[in-house]
Amino acid sequence: MKALVLAGGTGSRLRPFTHTRAKQLLPIANRPVVHYALQAIADAGIEEVGVVVGGHGDAIRRAVGEGSAFGLRITYLHQPRPLGLAHAVTVARDFLGDDDFLLYLGDNHLEDGVTGFVRRATAERDAGRLLLTPVPDPTAFGVAEVDGEGIVRQLEEKPERPRSDLALVGVYAFTPAVHEAVRAISPSGRGELEITDAVQWMIDRGWRVRAETTTRPWRDTGSVDDLLEANRSVLDRMEGRVDGKVDPHSVLVGRVSIAEGAVVRGSRIVGPVVVGAGAVITDSHVGPYTAIGENCRIQDSAIEFSVLLQGASVEGAARIERSLIGREAVVAAAPRPLQAHRLIIGDHSKVQLIP
Ligand code: TTP
Repeated sequence: MKALVLAGGTGSRLRPFTHTRAKQLLPIANRPVVHYALQAIADAGIEEVGVVVGGHGDAIRRAVGEGSAFGLRITYLHQPRPLGLAHAVTVARDFLGDDDFLLYLGDNHLEDGVTGFVRRATAERDAGRLLLTPVPDPTAFGVAEVDGEGIVRQLEEKPERPRSDLALVGVYAFTPAVHEAVRAISPSGRGELEITDAVQWMIDRGWRVRAETTTRPWRDTGSVDDLLEANRSVLDRMEGRVDGKVDPHSVLVGRVSIAEGAVVRGSRIVGPVVVGAGAVITDSHVGPYTAIGENCRIQDSAIEFSVLLQGASVEGAARIERSLIGREAVVAAAPRPLQAHRLIIGDHSKVQLIP
């Protein structure tokens, strides 16, 4: 079995970050989201992987390489425009050949991997196999109706009146039969070739599509809140480890991981927290569920439940929460006396001010 990882797309929900980088390279616990997908694929015993990339393809190539770090052989496949998940499968037609394959959305994060799913897909070889999970609000997802035997009867994209609470997780397994389906379907109302339409096409022809339901943690990291949640749940399982320097005036509570070359002075860090190499934290409080990227600077500030990308700096911020701060971004206190907020923020940025 091969794997196809989709790492193109528009990423409109993650603007402004996706103006300058692929969303699959945003970090969870200081590691790019797509690394977790590739690790899960390698753990499942798959060796040959196609990675579909779009506009930020070069950055993904640099961050992932040719796969040897994961024990994989990676082929990059260029999708000229993000015309849908099923379109991405057509781009990979030659690479996939006549092999069964695992389709993995590169911005999805499954904490428990896909090993069992791949094993069962390989053994049973249904035309399609879907991973589903119960969600509280199915209207925001692709939703599957499944019979008592686990066979999928119908799929609906963001239904107004859902027939079940089982949402599609971004992992599928297909036999080569799917290629006929992706060729046969037409673009949806939003102009994309939808994988749900391809699967429905297979069901309508009587081909067997089987569902597996999981209640293990899963996140589509396509929005800021979901990325923060994925970061929270990965940090929750992380081990503490201090390789950097922590001065005697600092206190570390719980599981805190401080990379070599990072420095903590006069600060209190309450885990789970990860601090990247070269970061300097001075006279600050860093609260639970925070990932501080490489070479960040935090001074005289309190920050929690947040993710800081490489080189970001925060100074004199009384309290920052639930924030995602981009590379080399600067957050600083206004000079006193306070007169006004001064904002130099890029397109599609969001700032929440305390009145
Ligand atoms: P989505 O999150 O569904 O789409 P998107 O990336 O366009 O995001 P947004 O809705 O915020 O604009 O995509 C799921 C995954 O599939 C993600 O890793 C991007 C990837 N993808 C492709 O590789 N090609 C495509 O044509 C599309 C639509 C998505």
